[in-house]
Amino acid sequence: MTDENSAERGPEPGPALRAEKLHYRYSEGTAGLGSVDLQIGRGERWGIIGPNGSGKSTLLHHFAGVYAAKGHLWVLGLEATKRNLPTIRRQVGFLFQDPDDQLFLPTVGADVAFGPRNAGLGEAEVEARVAGALARLEVSHLRDRPTHRLSGGEKQGAAIATVLALDPEILVLDEPTNDLDAGARRRLERFLGGWSKTLVIATHDLELLLGTVDRIAVLDGGSCVVEGNSSELLRDFELLEKHGLEEPPTVRILREAGVTDPRRIPDPREPADGAAQLDTPAPPPMAD
Ligand SMILES: Nc1ncnc2c1ncn2[C@@H]1O[C@H](COP(=O)(O)OP(=O)(O)O)[C@@H](O)[C@H]1O
Ligand SMILES: [Mg+2]
Repeated sequence: MTDENSAERGPEPGPALRAEKLHYRYSEGTAGLGSVDLQIGRGERWGIIGPNGSGKSTLLHHFAGVYAAKGHLWVLGLEATKRNLPTIRRQVGFLFQDPDDQLFLPTVGADVAFGPRNAGLGEAEVEARVAGALARLEVSHLRDRPTHRLSGGEKQGAAIATVLALDPEILVLDEPTNDLDAGARRRLERFLGGWSKTLVIATHDLELLLGTVDRIAVLDGGSCVVEGNSSELLRDFELLEKHGLEEPPTVRILREAGVTDPRRIPDPREPADGAAQLDTPAPPPMAD
């Protein structure tokens, strides 16, 4: 093992992710990130939203240890310097925006086994990881299928299984609902509902975030411009519009029906009897 790879450490103190003035410029000069300040605690569930080109994917690549940090980034307490990137990559599971970037072996089973085997696990443990990851994504039946023949939703399930098989501390997903039909989307939502460690999802699918995260960061122009509670922020029509975003469809439908008070719009994770209050529409405004 080289010196660089020998940085196998125990848990470091500190939040899951902490960025300070994190910035990035692509080689031909495009600014990927201007300056991001953001802290994500261990076990927290975050959505990263923002218009196209606002830097969501660039930020997620940093979280996943793909790029060394300019400015500062700490991942699970470890600074994201070039030397520490291999350690960070082992602890952060990263779903690329395009599942074809994740799947490169002839079958789904081979792809899911690749990471654990590469990490030096014994064959019995590799088998347990593969079977467990495929089952959690409800794609066990795809194990012997060629990856290039899968549908978009099947590919996405297989791609997340490859990440899960590494038992990451932080799960970072870039646009996970692209190309998903309704069934695949429900499977993804069920899986995310059962994920108890740190979760970061970048997406333009605000409806997904309504049921899966507690905190939201809004990126615009390569910087984090707003952060806050997801159920309030996803109902803030004016703020979302200001940053080139649209409300989740269910929020828009309720707003158009006259339910404008965000506290009266149900959170999909709350028990159904909370939603029953919606039967009483908001009273019309009083005339002078
Ligand atoms: N590989 C790349 N090479 C050069 N520029 C890039 C690359 N990836 C992204 N960019 C640019 O960086 C900025 C941020 O992009 P990105 O992080 O992909 O935003 P988002 O995911 O929010 O759409 C955009 O201006 C984009 O054109
Ligand atoms: Mg992107």
